[in-house]
Amino acid sequence: MRGLGAFLPAPLRLVDDPYGLRFARGLGALIDVPGVARRAHATAPIWMRGYVRRFAIYMQLRTRVIDDDVSAFAQAGGRQLVLLGAGFDCRAWRLAALSDATVFEVDHPATQAKKREIMGAEPAKGRVVFVPWDFEHEPLSALPDRLKREGHDRAAPTMTILEGVVMYLTAAALDATFDCIARYSSAGSPLAVTYMESELMRPSAARWMSRRAVVRFVGEPFRSGFEPAGFPDWLSARGFCLERDEGAAEAGVRLLRIDASRANRLRNTLSHFALARRG
Ligand SMILES: C[S@@+](CC[C@H](N)C(=O)[O-])C[C@H]1O[C@@H](n2cnc3c(N)ncnc32)[C@H](O)[C@@H]1O
Repeated sequence: MRGLGAFLPAPLRLVDDPYGLRFARGLGALIDVPGVARRAHATAPIWMRGYVRRFAIYMQLRTRVIDDDVSAFAQAGGRQLVLLGAGFDCRAWRLAALSDATVFEVDHPATQAKKREIMGAEPAKGRVVFVPWDFEHEPLSALPDRLKREGHDRAAPTMTILEGVVMYLTAAALDATFDCIARYSSAGSPLAVTYMESELMRPSAARWMSRRAVVRFVGEPFRSGFEPAGFPDWLSARGFCLERDEGAAEAGVRLLRIDASRANRLRNTLSHFALARRG
């Protein structure tokens, strides 16, 4: 979906991820065939519609909000990033701001193996350290020491990114995750976290049934959501202070200047992009 952003009209493009489509199985290779990309761009108004278009716009927003926070962190002298559930996030390859940084990519071994297969030979902007880890089955209490062995300095600022992850973790795995982040983060270290409102997880909320069914079908069911009003206290109990919590609709109005009806569609994602700091 990040890769598909290139096919949105210019006013809706906020991020360029030239690697995104490589992860879309045959689509990436197809787009590389001479002439196909040109035709795909020319015909995009026809096929970039409905759900695909909305999802691509949503990913542009989510990615850009966090990219801006990463750039601010790097400009302030931050040199360490930990991507928890890194997935197919290619910031280490995309963002020039990370040229002096070390990016620790922590992810499920299966996902990470796929990423290494696709990105392994591609020179990154920053130094990438791959750390395979299954949050549900390997004790996260051991992760800070593992990061230290990989060269992480817990006395220096670390920015952690938990993007598109917390909704898939159980309450117990979430507690362990935040405890782990608190232990390796020095005071003031930023944490970018995206979350979904708990309404989405409520079994009686028929409106969101199809979304729940899709993620369950692909093997990553939604497990945890939050009430925005209660999120600051939830974070505070775990040693973090909420600095900003922007709903997808507010980000859309700010970054894309979209109108009220489009903002409402984004509000229906029930998605939030938050920035907290280690207290
Ligand atoms: C929707 S993807 C988000 C990836 C990336 N942060 C992004 O925004 O592009 C969810 C990520 O969570 C990771 N994940 C889910 N359950 C996990 C677990 N038990 N242990 C480690 N990683 C897990 C998946 O491997 C995947 O990379």
